[in-house]
Amino acid sequence: MINRRTIIAAGSLGALGLAAYVSYRAYGSLYKNFGGRPATLTRRNVLDFLNYAHVLEAEQVRLYGEQSRAAEEAGDEHFAAAMRRARDVEQEHVVKIEDQLKRLRANPSPWTAVGPSLGSMMHGVLSSIDLAGEGKGLRSVLKTIVWIEQKAVDHYLRAFRQTQDESLRKMYMENLVDEEFHASWAQEMLEQEVEREEGDSF
Ligand SMILES: [Fe+2]
Ligand SMILES: [Fe+2]
Repeated sequence: MINRRTIIAAGSLGALGLAAYVSYRAYGSLYKNFGGRPATLTRRNVLDFLNYAHVLEAEQVRLYGEQSRAAEEAGDEHFAAAMRRARDVEQEHVVKIEDQLKRLRANPSPWTAVGPSLGSMMHGVLSSIDLAGEGKGLRSVLKTIVWIEQKAVDHYLRAFRQTQDESLRKMYMENLVDEEFHASWAQEMLEQEVEREEGDSF
């Protein structure tokens, strides 16, 4: 008899496998000329990257949405508001990427559907870190946000440099700046957390 856990585990493995495949294709196209002069991406590379970005943006929408709900429940209105705002910006990114795919007469690949599940999985992992109740949860969440957002900045910058299409370049640069704001906000909160903790230990 197959129980619910087995189904969830199989589903998670499947989602991770797909995500690995997606990143391999898009990552490969962005980094194929690593160290050399940026290469111009082919149409296939551009579509791979847009699908890859779609997965990650949809993942962020779900992650920030769930973080915001959890913070609300915990009574942390500041963090809840920040996560809600970030979620809305990531949702804008998803829509803008879908608009670009439409403009290029392509549909999001079926595997982009794994984005939200990845966000829920990441939320689950991050939520389990604070089970010991030592306040490590918030720091881990902030560190993860800084890491993800900096990765996003790096990818958008590479895509920007390797694309001639003006409309895509504008979107990459605008999304990049939004991701920089997210990374800086999380970094600033992380520093405040560390300072507060050091203050507490005296
Ligand atoms: Fe984004
Ligand atoms: Fe972001």
